[in-house]
Amino acid sequence: MKKRVTKAIFPVAGKGTRFLPATKSIPKEIMTLVDRPLIQYAIDEARAAGIREFIFVTSRGKSALEDYFDHTPELENTLRKAGKEDLLETLKTTNMDSGAIAYIRQHKALGLGHAVWCARRLIGNEPFAVILPDDVIAAQTPCLQQMVEAHAETGGCMVAAMEVPKEKTSSYGVLDVKGEMGATVSINGMVEKPPADEAPSNLAVIGRYILTPDIMRNLSRIKTGSGGEIQLTDAIAAEIDEDREVFGYRFRGQRFDCGSKAGFLQATVAFGLAREDLGAEFEEYLQELMSMHRAAQ
Ligand code: G1P
Repeated sequence: MKKRVTKAIFPVAGKGTRFLPATKSIPKEIMTLVDRPLIQYAIDEARAAGIREFIFVTSRGKSALEDYFDHTPELENTLRKAGKEDLLETLKTTNMDSGAIAYIRQHKALGLGHAVWCARRLIGNEPFAVILPDDVIAAQTPCLQQMVEAHAETGGCMVAAMEVPKEKTSSYGVLDVKGEMGATVSINGMVEKPPADEAPSNLAVIGRYILTPDIMRNLSRIKTGSGGEIQLTDAIAAEIDEDREVFGYRFRGQRFDCGSKAGFLQATVAFGLAREDLGAEFEEYLQELMSMHRAAQ
C-alpha cells in the first residue's frame, strides 16, 4: 500500500534580498498578502492536503517566523475580555499543535536541494511534500491537494508544472516531456534554469513537490549544479536516470511569484479583489485610479 503524505518541508532559509530594506528585520515569509503572512498561505495549503508535520528549514534571523506560530496567551486573553471572538478565531488558525512543527537550520546557503536535505532525519523513510512559500497559488482546490489526489494514482515523484514564456525558462526547472495523461505528464528529464535555446520545453516546475525518500539519498551524492548550488531539480532528475518514474502535474489555479516585487503586487491586487469583505470597495478604487491614470496620459 502507498504511504500517505503527512510531512512537508518548507525551505525558508533564503535572505530575501530582493525585498530589502523590508527584509532587513523581518523574514520575507512574514511579509503580508492582504492580512496574512506568506507562510500562512503555505501552511493552510499543506493542511488542506492532509499534512500533519511541518518542517521549516530556517537560517539566522528567522526567529520572527518561529514566534509567528507560537501561542500568544496574553493577546488571546485581551481579545477574550474585549469580546472579540472573531479575532480570537483568526488567531487560532495560526496555532500549531504541540510537536507538529519542527525547525532545522541550514547553516550555509548551498541551494534548495541542500535545504531539503537538511531535513532528512525528520523525513526518514516516508514520502514527503515540499512547498516553496514564494509561489502562492490561488485555486479552488488547493494545489497540493490536487497533487496528492493525482499522486495516489501514480506514486513516484511529482512536481507542479505550468507553461511559461520560452524566454523565461532560465528562471525555472524545466521538464522534458515524454507523454501527457490529462493533467499528469510523464517526463524524460528535468533541467534547472536552462537558457531558452537549450530548454527541452516551456513547461516549468512550480514550488510544490511530492517526493520519495530516495530523493534524500540522491541529494547526499549529487554534485553542485546550476548557480554552483545543490539543486533539488538534479536530485529528482537522478530518479529518472535510475528508471524510476517522475511526473509533472498541470495544476488548476493561478500562480503568483511572490519572490519578485511585481509578482507580490499582482498577488496583493488579486487576493484583495477576491476578498468578500474588501473586494467591492477595492475594485471601485482600482477603477477610479485607472481612469485617473488614463486621463493623465
Ligand atoms: C526554485 C527551483 C526551480 C523552480 C522554482 C519555482 O528556483 O530551483 O526549479 O522552477 O523554484 O519557483 P528559485 O526560484 O528558488 O531560484
